[in-house]
Amino acid sequence: MNFLVALHSWLRWILLILLLVSIVKSLSGFIGKKALSAGDKKLWLFTMITAHTTLLVGLILLFFGTFGITKGVPEGVSVMKNATYRFYWVEHPLMMIIAIALITVGRGQAKKSISDYNKYKKAFWFFLIALLVILAAIPWPFRTEIGRAFVPGM
Ligand code: HEM
Repeated sequence: MNFLVALHSWLRWILLILLLVSIVKSLSGFIGKKALSAGDKKLWLFTMITAHTTLLVGLILLFFGTFGITKGVPEGVSVMKNATYRFYWVEHPLMMIIAIALITVGRGQAKKSISDYNKYKKAFWFFLIALLVILAAIPWPFRTEIGRAFVPGM
């Protein structure tokens, strides 16, 4: 399970970088009225695949990890009253699933029969909102009670 936590944590950085590049390139795409490039389509696809892989690993951790649902909660602990359980069982998965859905819809713009200008513009907004949701739902080290390391093992 340690390996999966580390993988999940590293995937966060890969996803953040890909998402950031996707946002910048989508912005320059619609501001510069560019034609949707094959490279950008690939970039959006890789961003989505990374998001879905993070989701998959997250689901395994949610069910079978140290705080996994299959382990149950310790005697006398209420999930919604305990900051750690509430975060890892409810807030984090819920917000991340919303963000991943936004990334999926953003990437889907590439396949729509709309102008390239609109593809870039819509994808930009979906990716930007997804990024903000992800940044809000990551257990950054400075977050009290639920905070984790910037990189695994540090
Ligand atoms: C964009 C998607 C996501 C990102 C960037 C992300 C990021 C993270 C990070 C940075 C940690 C801390 C890892 C560490 O301790 O070093 C974590 C933990 C965790 N995440 Fe996610 N996560 C995402 C999606 C999800 C989803 C969709 C789920 C569940 C369905 C999930 C479930 C969990 C669980 C259960 C833990 C605690 C693991 C443990 O300590 O056993 N994550 N996540």
